[in-house]
Amino acid sequence: MLLTEVLEWLKPGEGALIVDCTLGMGGHSEALLKENPTARVIGLDRDSESLELAQARLSEFGDRFLAVHSDYEDLSQVLEERGIIAVDCILADLGISSFQLEAPERGFSFLKDEPLDMRMDRLGGLTAADLVNDLGEKELADLIFEKGEERGSRGIARAIVKERTRQRIESTKQLADIVIRALHQRGKWRIHPATRTFQALRIAVNGELERLNEFISTAISMLRIGGRLSIISFHSLEDRIVKNAYRRESGRCICEGREARPVSGDGSVVCLTCGAARRVAILTRKAIRPSEQEMDRNPRSRSARMRICERTHQ
Ligand SMILES: C[S@@+](CC[C@H](N)C(=O)[O-])C[C@H]1O[C@@H](n2cnc3c(N)ncnc32)[C@H](O)[C@@H]1O
Repeated sequence: MLLTEVLEWLKPGEGALIVDCTLGMGGHSEALLKENPTARVIGLDRDSESLELAQARLSEFGDRFLAVHSDYEDLSQVLEERGIIAVDCILADLGISSFQLEAPERGFSFLKDEPLDMRMDRLGGLTAADLVNDLGEKELADLIFEKGEERGSRGIARAIVKERTRQRIESTKQLADIVIRALHQRGKWRIHPATRTFQALRIAVNGELERLNEFISTAISMLRIGGRLSIISFHSLEDRIVKNAYRRESGRCICEGREARPVSGDGSVVCLTCGAARRVAILTRKAIRPSEQEMDRNPRSRSARMRICERTHQ
């Protein structure tokens, strides 16, 4: 997704070291390795099944490519363990891959009937079924509203709690049917009624928003001066976090706190409340979106937004 744009904006130089923090099926990494014959890529993914497939796909690049099973929140540790103190480019293409969406038994899709799992890393942690069956009604409603921006969240939470007094909710179809009934929707719809509820649960199960802010700070710390960070997000909640983090890291106060102090000469501030301090320049005033052709070819890409910044200060 946004493949040409990633190649164009990351601009790895001769012998660049690139970290692809969300390797997935290795599509971006493969293109970066092909287009930049002297570059090396370290690819991280928290999903070991995806990692294995990507590793096989990229084996032709020999020691120019290294796959690491890791959460991107451990980026600095992954690099430090290999004696790396700074890299040239970092890419994060957030969310889940088509492979994960379509793979059997992963529980991400409301179009199939599978166990309600949704964990990207299946080695541990709570599943979507755990949340749906164990959270209180208000907690569930808040989760679906905040992480799914679903206005019918209260009705959905009420219907879930009612249903689970009869039987545990274990499958994607069971949940999708409850949501459809709670929203009183039948027949044809523009987006499937369960889309937002499934998004909310997936984000909660995988702690996707909590990790992002911290990750952006760490990623910038690991860039050499002149190095670039590219983040592709898939929904407005993620994009808002990326946009605000870039603003803060470019020395603009995002909390309007009284602590913000101007830095002489460059128009930026340092703010102790939100942590604003200039380390990067934002290269994309407006988020970059896929071309019409890409959106026609791959309707899922419609909601993708890419933002890039460049490290300018220590
Ligand atoms: C949209 S896909 C990436 C697709 C990839 N760019 C490609 O071209 O094939 C996102 C990938 O990021 C992984 N992922 C999501 N959150 C992660 C995290 N916190 N740490 C590491 N990997 C993560 C997912 O498991 C998934 O494989």
